[in-house]
Amino acid sequence: MAEEKKNSGKKRLIVGISGASGAILGIQLLKLLGQYPDWETHLIMTEGAKLTIRSETEYTVEQVAALADRTYEPQQIGASIASGTFRTEGMVILPCSMKTIAGIASGYCDNLLLRAADVTLKEKRKLVLAARECPLSAIHLRNMLTLTEAGAYIMPPVLSYYQHPQSIEDMNLHFLGKLLDKFDLEPAGYRRWGEGCSDYSNESNE
Ligand SMILES: Cc1cc2nc3c(=O)[nH]c(=O)nc-3n(C[C@H](O)[C@H](O)[C@H](O)COP(=O)(O)O)c2cc1C
Repeated sequence: MAEEKKNSGKKRLIVGISGASGAILGIQLLKLLGQYPDWETHLIMTEGAKLTIRSETEYTVEQVAALADRTYEPQQIGASIASGTFRTEGMVILPCSMKTIAGIASGYCDNLLLRAADVTLKEKRKLVLAARECPLSAIHLRNMLTLTEAGAYIMPPVLSYYQHPQSIEDMNLHFLGKLLDKFDLEPAGYRRWGEGCSDYSNESNE
């Protein structure tokens, strides 16, 4: 573990991008995190993620890697983030495939993404999984229940309409705001219900 010589003093967040649809969300998350100078991002992209980045976005894998402070390959199983002694604020996998969900739920850590998620759970740090598949099978749902019971947040990238989105970017920002809220971060433009979004609490039901 010689590669991490010193603690930078920054808060560390592990970001995983796996091969589910929605790679752009992971990219936008890295961009938002880049605006917080006191946070440091540690990125793992699976081979599946590299495929979806190429097929769904205008970004190259190298451009995505450059958005993070450190980037690891899935086979780097001895990297710093594979150990619980390397302190982090937690981990986000966005988007999270059903294969990765299954791997974490069963404790099958055969790549660095799965190992880092397993470590995050065992250290009782925050693990946010933006699980993405449609429709969901009984197997997917059981795995997600297992992970919820183990302490993970299952946060599928679900659309919301109450903030009156005008574009896909608005939709994405709202989801990313909800996700970053788990780490007490609030991106510019994020609108909470009753604080920029409509609030009907004073209206009569009649
Ligand atoms: C364009 C594309 C979109 C995909 N979307 C999904 C998805 O939304 N959810 C999912 O579970 N798998 C999806 N897959 C399949 C995964 O990429 C595949 O199961 C892969 O083995 C996941 O491995 P990983 O979790 O290590 O990235 C998609 C594959 C491609 C090529």
